[in-house]
Amino acid sequence: MNNLTSTFRLRWPECGLSTLIRIALCSMLCFIGVVLAVTSVKAHEGASGIIKQRMEAMKSMGDYAKLVGDMFKGKASFDLDTIRMASESFIRHGQTIPMQFPDTPESREGPMTEASPAIWDDWQQFTALAEQFIRDSRQLEAVAAMLQTSETLDDTSTRNVRSAFFKAVKSCSNCHENFRLEHE
Ligand code: HEC
Repeated sequence: MNNLTSTFRLRWPECGLSTLIRIALCSMLCFIGVVLAVTSVKAHEGASGIIKQRMEAMKSMGDYAKLVGDMFKGKASFDLDTIRMASESFIRHGQTIPMQFPDTPESREGPMTEASPAIWDDWQQFTALAEQFIRDSRQLEAVAAMLQTSETLDDTSTRNVRSAFFKAVKSCSNCHENFRLEHE
């Protein structure tokens, strides 16, 4: 949306549009922008029951993954507590994954779900990937537990946490590649 807006902005002067039309266009674009923003925030709202529950669990892991990812990209300062909370969230939610994908018509085909039918065709592989994800998250927890405070981190320990974190989030995408149909 931002790209679209800036494309329009850049082109207006060349078009020689009158001020009035520019104002009208601007309000229209702003309106569309607001509608899109609201729609994306409400993406879960058509979902209910088990689908909504698992989406919220995934979303919460996604939020932690972003927080920690930003630290390693230098966009946020390093914070050990956040890493510990992230690993705790990954383990806790990881353990609920098998329960959150029951083989029921609602779970398979309810509104908004991006769950692939492959989950139930290949349940063993799906739960094995959930197990692997939990193992990787425990490893992240263990590495983070060995460190004292963010201030005393040296290069080696930062590297260890970093690689444990990226291994855990690689496990997220390993599962998504096979079992999540992304609608966007
Ligand atoms: C064992 C498989 C598996 C693992 C591991 C897994 N996911 Fe997912 N994830 C899924 C499936 C399946 C869906 C689609 C669920 C649905 O739409 O009903 C999903 C959906 C999501 C969504 C979209 C939720 C929404 O609001 O629609 C996000 C974000 C997400 N996962 C993040 C993560 C992150 C981050 C991790 C790791 C920290 C992770 N997932 C680990 C299977 C997995």
